[in-house]
Amino acid sequence: MMQDLFTEAREDLDDGAVLMRGFAVDAAAALLSDIAQVSALAPFRHLVTPGGFRMSVAMTNCGDFGWVSDRRGYRYDPIDPESGHPWPPMPVSFIDLAGRAAHAAGYAGFHADVCLINCYLPGTRLTLHQDRDEGDFTQPIVSISLGLPAAFLWGGKARTDKTRRYALHHGDVVVWGGLSRLNFHGIAPLKDGNHPIVGARRFNLTFRRAR
Ligand code: SIN
Ligand code: FE2
Repeated sequence: MMQDLFTEAREDLDDGAVLMRGFAVDAAAALLSDIAQVSALAPFRHLVTPGGFRMSVAMTNCGDFGWVSDRRGYRYDPIDPESGHPWPPMPVSFIDLAGRAAHAAGYAGFHADVCLINCYLPGTRLTLHQDRDEGDFTQPIVSISLGLPAAFLWGGKARTDKTRRYALHHGDVVVWGGLSRLNFHGIAPLKDGNHPIVGARRFNLTFRRAR
């Protein structure tokens, strides 16, 4: 069973939050080919924050909804505002891995209805934030890293709480829920490099239950 296979590679970040090193390595090729398919239909774009800043990370989505930001605020939208069409459906490889990862982390029965796909180039960062636009905080967030390594900043319940840094490598999975569901987190500016499979970039998939 997955859970047993990963007892050696698990690191507890906090109550409810776990890092499972290498959990997605075997699925990486399928995930990458599905990222290419999704982004052909819904291209990566730099969203604007409600405050008017262009985000440094490029994003797209698949599933029943997509996370979007504009001058009006943050929200989950069933329609891609750029195309006027629904977001591409969630690929089977995504659904399978998100469910297995959540289960292995102790969250059985997780059914994501959104996958936000982030693309980082060297220098790209994601400032400390909470994932709090979802309707149901009993459902965890499942986060998958592919490509160049990144420094994941894991904070506390308040923005000013001390952060710890965890290097996230190709195939690493972080799941946070329960008492950690609203912890602040972010990504330090991506270092330059070249990943043998993914090249000079990093992808991150975050699975959410929006509704
Ligand atoms: C996120 O917080 O939405 C993404 C985190 C990451 O890129 O690992
Ligand atoms: Fe987040």
